[in-house]
Amino acid sequence: MKIAPSILSADFSRLKDDIATVSSAEWLHIDVMDGHFVPNLSFGAPIIRALRPHTRQVFDTHLMIENPAKYLDDFIAAGSDHITFHVETVVDPGKLVERLHDAGVKAGMSMKPATPIEAIEAYLSTLDVVLVMSVEPGFGGQAFMPESLEKIRQLRDIRDREGYHFEIVVDGGINKQTAKQCVDAGADVLVAGSYVFGSTDREASMRALRR
Ligand code: DX5
Ligand code: ZN
Repeated sequence: MKIAPSILSADFSRLKDDIATVSSAEWLHIDVMDGHFVPNLSFGAPIIRALRPHTRQVFDTHLMIENPAKYLDDFIAAGSDHITFHVETVVDPGKLVERLHDAGVKAGMSMKPATPIEAIEAYLSTLDVVLVMSVEPGFGGQAFMPESLEKIRQLRDIRDREGYHFEIVVDGGINKQTAKQCVDAGADVLVAGSYVFGSTDREASMRALRR
C-alpha cells in the first residue's frame, strides 16, 4: 500500500519545507484546479517545476481542468511522473494516454463520483493509474463517500480478471477509518490531504494510515 499526501492541504508559503515532512510517502499528489471543471483554483505547472529539484518522490499530478490536452506538455515538462486527467474532460482519452506514454509519463484516468466505470473501461488495459474520486473534486477536507468502495471493488475485480496492471488510487476523505475500508476494498494507493497535512506529526499520521 502506498501513501500519496496531497499538497493541496500543505502550507503554500513554505511548500518546499512542508513536502520534506512527508518524504517517507511513496508519491506526492499534486492537485491542479482550473475554476471551470471544478469550482476552485489551485496552481499550475510552475509550482511543479519549482518543487521538482527538491525531492525525488514520484510526482502524481491530478489534473482537474478542462481541455487537459492543451496543457499536457507543460505538465510533462514540469517534471510530473504520473499525470491523471478526468475522462469527463476529453473527447479522445486514448490519444492523451498515448501522448503520455510517448513522453515516458505514466497515464492515469479519473472520474467524478457520478461517472460510472464504464466511461473508462475501454482504456483500462492501457492505464497505469485509475483514480477513484471519493469526494466531489474541488476541495480538500470533505467527507468520504462510501459508495466509492463499490467502484474500488469493481476495478479490482476487472483488473484481476483481465490481468491489467493499473494501480487503484482513491482520493478524498481519507482518514484512519476510511483508509482501512479502501484497502480492504482493493485500493493500492491512498491520497490524503487534510489528514496528513492537518496533523502536526505527519509521519505519525501516515503510519496510522498504513496500519
Ligand atoms: C480534491 C482533491 C484531493 C484533495 C483531498 O478535489 O483531488 O486530492 O486534496 O483532500 P482530503 O484528503 O482532505 O479529502
Ligand atoms: Zn486529487
